[in-house]
Amino acid sequence: MKTCFRNPEIFNLKSALCLFASVAALSLSAACDVELRKSDAQLGLNPQQAAGRRVYDDLCDRCHAPYSSRGKKGPSMRGVFKKQFLSQSGLPANDDRVVEIVRYGRNNMPGFGQVLNQRQVEDLLAYLHTL
Ligand code: HEC
Repeated sequence: MKTCFRNPEIFNLKSALCLFASVAALSLSAACDVELRKSDAQLGLNPQQAAGRRVYDDLCDRCHAPYSSRGKKGPSMRGVFKKQFLSQSGLPANDDRVVEIVRYGRNNMPGFGQVLNQRQVEDLLAYLHTL
């Protein structure tokens, strides 16, 4: 049996297995970091909220994560209306203030008043309320 451990083939098999296990563990933990995109139906979005989600994906997602608390260029939008005040600006978390920020921008955030029509702003708000 002693020779068994010294057998280089078995040693290599063990290290290969070990390597395989670490690679598998690493890629698993990496996979957990990736947010799997849910469908509108899975999120239970009505048509207006789903339309707002498309606006969000086009214009906001690159700077604001919708479902994770991770900050991108701007703060996460998760639960944006669930607290009394917006985390970054400290402004009241209500429709008026959020629409103002979306229309006119704030510090490093550009304004979208020229890009969005009233309907799109309303859709966007409806979606933000689901976060
Ligand atoms: C280029 C990146 C960028 C884009 C695109 C962007 N934002 Fe922002 N946003 C920011 C930054 C940066 C802030 C923080 C501004 C500040 O200093 O108060 C911010 C702040 C906000 C706030 C206030 C958050 C707080 O806690 O005070 C809201 C709400 C918001 N953005 C919504 C949106 C929505 C909705 C869109 C899409 C229409 C959008 N943003 C697009 C960068 C961006």
